Amino acid sequence: MDAHPSTGSQARLAGSARASYHRTRDRVRAVPSRGLTHVATYRRRVAASTERVWENVRDWEHLPFLHAASFRSIALEEESAAGWRARVGLHPSNEIVLELAIDAREPKYVSRTLAGPGAGSEIWTTVTAASPTATDVEVAFWLPDVAAERADALGAAYVRLYERLWDEDEAMMVRRAAELAARTERAARKRLCLGTLADLRAQLPHCFAWSGRGWRLVDLDGVLHIHAAHCPHWLGPLDAAPIEAGAVTCPWHGWRFDVRTGRALDGRAARLATPPTLEIDGDGGVWVMP
Ligand code: FES
Ligand SMILES: [Fe+2]
Repeated sequence: MDAHPSTGSQARLAGSARASYHRTRDRVRAVPSRGLTHVATYRRRVAASTERVWENVRDWEHLPFLHAASFRSIALEEESAAGWRARVGLHPSNEIVLELAIDAREPKYVSRTLAGPGAGSEIWTTVTAASPTATDVEVAFWLPDVAAERADALGAAYVRLYERLWDEDEAMMVRRAAELAARTERAARKRLCLGTLADLRAQLPHCFAWSGRGWRLVDLDGVLHIHAAHCPHWLGPLDAAPIEAGAVTCPWHGWRFDVRTGRALDGRAARLATPPTLEIDGDGGVWVMP
């Protein structure tokens, strides 16, 4: 949830990124730094609990995947209960050092650009529970070196950007909450007929529910495979995720899995849930078997 529209200004370093982080990591100042200009405030209600929102705030890893239009890469430098700091690649080739610092006393956090384009800017976000499944967020944008005649335009650009970022985050949080709720329900593992082989082949990939979870039937080099339609990391959606060379990539944090074996392809111990067995009867009916 951290990005900066182009200000058109030259990149400049705000001193040592590491020194700045250590200065602020233990205690978040409750107010923006002196000398900054407030250019806009964005307010919205998101359809997710504060638990999901704070989880999202701490989740640096999703930036270049869920927000691929805004971020190109991320390399974590430091992470703690107080927040995180990372080198973040922007399109087309810029890089910034971004620090996210969480206030331990107030429901508030600040993301500061420590180096790169937009260095010195601070984005303050207040998080307030509206209900068990809804959260109000208020995002204030504070920038350095803003000419008075540009303040409104810059503020509007930030608001547009953050509207999209929060739309993307909200979709992830809503989906994750639904997946977590569904996990608590136990469903019977019964045999299920998916249809005839000829019909299914005409509509692959085919998503279906079985035993309370989503699965996807795909054809890899002429062989049918079933794989879990949810990621083992944060239950990200794999039902529409592209498959390339037998690997499926999760759209939330980019973890990759071998569709045939379920194993992670990046050395992680994670693996896709074990799929049900597929059987084809003598009449060409395709069955999912426990
Ligand atoms: S939910 Fe994080 S990589 Fe899939
Ligand atoms: Fe986000």
